[in-house]
Amino acid sequence: KVTISNGSQTMPLPVIGLGTATQPQVAETTKSAVLDAIGIGYRHFDTAFIYGSEQPLGEAIAEAIKTGLIKSRDELFITSKLWCTFASPELVLPAIKTSLKNLQLDYLDLFLVHWPLKISGEVKRLPIPKETIFPIDIKAVWEVMEECQNLGLTKAIGVSNFSTRRLDELLSFAKIPPSVNQVEMNPLWQQKDLREFCKAKGIHITAYSPLGSRGAKWGDSESLEYKVLEEIAKAKGKTAAQVSLRWVYEQGVSFVPKSFNKDRLKQNLDIFDWSLTEEELNKISKLPQRRGILPSMMMEPSDLVREIEAEI
Ligand code: A2P
Repeated sequence: KVTISNGSQTMPLPVIGLGTATQPQVAETTKSAVLDAIGIGYRHFDTAFIYGSEQPLGEAIAEAIKTGLIKSRDELFITSKLWCTFASPELVLPAIKTSLKNLQLDYLDLFLVHWPLKISGEVKRLPIPKETIFPIDIKAVWEVMEECQNLGLTKAIGVSNFSTRRLDELLSFAKIPPSVNQVEMNPLWQQKDLREFCKAKGIHITAYSPLGSRGAKWGDSESLEYKVLEEIAKAKGKTAAQVSLRWVYEQGVSFVPKSFNKDRLKQNLDIFDWSLTEEELNKISKLPQRRGILPSMMMEPSDLVREIEAEI
């Protein structure tokens, strides 16, 4: 576990969580993967309204309590995210209530602003049309995020896909500073500057796509197949995925790899009783960098989308 702060108190965050973004989202598969994960020892789950995984995650949690896999919901750390179509002050409270209803929960542990963007209307097709994408009024949205925490609907609030510039802006008016910034991070997108900035400001980083979203519609397998990672993995009797996760862990961040396969769920937990050598860390730090998740994969390019893409 790592410790995060919600502005008034510290909270433990299980360092590894299960990511639940899949395409397509199949409810039964998600539910059974979550039940497997709880059985194996996962206690942190990452979802979002837009993933469509809130309902199956909620069903799995209810079943885990009913069958005694866990005693109560308090044993879990649940993160969800405010989708861009609700990134207007009047839509934030209804949005968190919808997420809670989907999850069958009274509170979230962490609620994040998903992207520093606002989208008008429902997302009906991909890529999202550029005329429906607007700048977010983060000051007004953040005030209601703070209200969500003050009302006890979530224990902590944070952001996702925020650059240092946007975090600075947010910190200039936030009464409750963001506890977490969830961003893409893996050996091929190491986020050194953002990590330094967040450390100085007391914002914890959670890494999404710690495996480079291998196999996902929006990802690739490069992260896992990179020669250097394979070589290190071979020398240690581990897999390239484990080397990636161990590297992420050693940077002091939390991470939410997605796997709906029981063996790989176990494999991804098996990274805590060995470490990377100085030489191995050095080799990884020199890997050429490339971002895997780009807004323009899901959104029509516009000046605003390009600006966000260039920043993070
Ligand atoms: P699967 O669910 O079949 O295990 P990320 O977390 O970076 O988004 O990557 C998720 C992708 O990586 C999924 O396609 C997942 O597939 C795959 N994956 C997860 N864990 C491992 C692993 N240990 N080895 C290989 N692939 C993995």
